Amino acid sequence: MINRQTLDKLTINELESKYPFVLSFFEDNKLDVDNYSDKTFIEFLEHFTEEDIEEWAIDTSKLIDDIIIYINQMLEFLGIKEEKGVDSLTIIAGYDKSGNKEGFDNIVINKSEIISIVGPTGSGKSRLLADIEWTAMKDTPTRRAILINGEEPDKKWRFSSGNKLVAQLSQNMNFVMDLTVNEFLELHAKSRMVENEKEVIKKIIEAANNLAGEKFNLDTPITSLSGGQSRALMIADTAILSTSPIVLIDEIENAGIDRKKALNLLVSKEKIVLMATHDPSLALMADKRIVINNGGIIKIIETNEEEKEMLVELEKMDKVIQAMRGSLRKGDLIKKDLLS
Ligand SMILES: Nc1ncnc2c1ncn2[C@@H]1O[C@H](COP(=O)(O)OP(=O)(O)O)[C@@H](O)[C@H]1O
Ligand SMILES: [Mg+2]
Repeated sequence: MINRQTLDKLTINELESKYPFVLSFFEDNKLDVDNYSDKTFIEFLEHFTEEDIEEWAIDTSKLIDDIIIYINQMLEFLGIKEEKGVDSLTIIAGYDKSGNKEGFDNIVINKSEIISIVGPTGSGKSRLLADIEWTAMKDTPTRRAILINGEEPDKKWRFSSGNKLVAQLSQNMNFVMDLTVNEFLELHAKSRMVENEKEVIKKIIEAANNLAGEKFNLDTPITSLSGGQSRALMIADTAILSTSPIVLIDEIENAGIDRKKALNLLVSKEKIVLMATHDPSLALMADKRIVINNGGIIKIIETNEEEKEMLVELEKMDKVIQAMRGSLRKGDLIKKDLLS
């Protein structure tokens, strides 16, 4: 949808690239906008002199109304849902399991931020992710509310299946459909209307195999993928195909995948990423972490320099552990030189 405010902000150039059909509006109304591509439509109309307006019977205010109506009708007619950007997500405090108000008023998370969620098992990490997924409006056990771009979100987010607000990677992911990996990805690619389907599918498989220990191919039935493989497939699929502006990740660490590669794949400047984790490396890769206890958010910690430095140490330790895991799998003995 476009309105007077948005029209005022867009140059003719931007209008044409966002709404290509607007060209025929200009043509139909004999408006020669060629030399005004970096001006707004209003500015273009202002260039007409009194005489032009007289001579051509130009009704500028009607043209403004008409172009808005025209664009909106075309969008509706073409069934185009505009990509709705999410710049911020706000969590408005609710109540913990004992009914006490959470220790903050609201938390604002901005686009491109990575937030980790930490706390004991059963403390409410998954619940917080679910509140966001459902864009809670004081209608969940926590009575939290979620705002998108500072506003109460449109209810359609809850029920639309195509343009989803949230892409979720949950703890339990079991496929029940009887499809091969290729059929599964084809369905996804079709529903997202990507053009270069084959290429995209190939990219997803490559990315997934890069995350999972054991490789699979296009003909593998999804029901026979291991836990790690299906997780890897979902992550690659989400990273490459999903346009959802918010990504929620629930404890990916135990899935037998390269979790750091996974996170890097999922993170983007255009998205907000929230992940529940017990893994120090993942927790510290986030910009901030939300600490949960007894169902309530008790603090928000910004990852500081010292912690970021520890991340380097953690990476070394991770490498040692991975090497040990590799040795165990192969049936080798664990040797001290793995430490150096
Ligand atoms: N603030 C709350 N009020 C009431 N119930 C809550 C609250 N937070 C979490 N719960 C419930 O506590 C249980 C455990 O929470 P969960 O999110 O699964 O924990 P975690 O993911 O940290 O292990 C769930 O049944 C959840 O719905
Ligand atoms: Mg959980």
